Amino acid sequence: MLAKIEQLLQEIEGLTASNAEELEVLRIKYLSKKGAISTLMADFRNVPAEQKKEMGMKLNELKNRAQERIAELKETFEGQDNSAAELDLTRTAYPVELGTRHPLTIVRNEIINIFNRLGFTIADGPEVEDDWHVFSAMNFAEDHPARDMQDTFFIESHPDIILRTHTSSVQSRIMENTQPPIRVICPGRVYRNEAISYRAHCFFHQVEGLYIDKNVSFTDLKQVLLQFAQEMFGPNTKIRLRPSYFPFTEPSAEMDISCDICGGEGCPFCKYTGWVEILGCGMVDPAVLESNGIDSKVYTGYAFGMGVERITNLKYKVKDLRMFSENDTRFLEEFESAN
Ligand code: PHE
Repeated sequence: MLAKIEQLLQEIEGLTASNAEELEVLRIKYLSKKGAISTLMADFRNVPAEQKKEMGMKLNELKNRAQERIAELKETFEGQDNSAAELDLTRTAYPVELGTRHPLTIVRNEIINIFNRLGFTIADGPEVEDDWHVFSAMNFAEDHPARDMQDTFFIESHPDIILRTHTSSVQSRIMENTQPPIRVICPGRVYRNEAISYRAHCFFHQVEGLYIDKNVSFTDLKQVLLQFAQEMFGPNTKIRLRPSYFPFTEPSAEMDISCDICGGEGCPFCKYTGWVEILGCGMVDPAVLESNGIDSKVYTGYAFGMGVERITNLKYKVKDLRMFSENDTRFLEEFESAN
């Protein structure tokens, strides 16, 4: 019986079939009820008890191998048949889907371009920052609410290491390494621990600007921001500055632009005020200059910071901030022509 099994095993390895009918003949020959393997199985009864175990294993191996081999053969010709049927050389190519630039990238680039033309260069810095560059060097008091757990993401094992809450940290890094004149913009992603809704997210994007030199005044700041607003939102755009507070600027202001939708007449978008807020700004507090190694008796400077999402919302009337991070191509494709 052992010899018969070995012989069948060899036979099976050598089998070939080029179509389904040939394969079926082979299957019947070896695997059907009256096939060679079943016949052997039937003979199993006569095997002496002490050989039953070994012989049983051999028989099983033979049967498994035969089934495998039939399946293998089936694949060889099925694969060929299918590829022949599917390959249509006259068919036109699948269209390649081109991606579009993300609306935030489009607007960020536009902001950068405007400030590049005004002589600002780009500065970059880490998103995972230390407390010094985000807060202390920017004149935040030890108990300032912005350091609170509600706003800042802390790295658990290192209370001093945080996700930056604004790109002012890049300004600090530039000041500690460079003496004026300094004229930079700092675009980048920032993180705040906020509940996600249509108007807040736990991360967003900023572009902050810093200009330090001798005799820099608030008038310079206002002129640069007016220029920016009119390039970004059109030549008829008006600006207005309202007094405000930031730890790192003194005096500080928030800037509104005349409402793009109603032209200043008043509408639901501007809550009938005719104005919408777009950025924060001010003269760099002398304490910030000193903390970062710049002589505040010789130099003065201004800084401003804006949210890219906010500018994009105004420009493209996007009502829900969450759209920016959902990757819904129906939304993203709307910006195809703005690329
Ligand atoms: N850092 C401020 C913020 O994140 C923005 C700002 C920058 C305001 C520079 C004034 C001057 O809200």
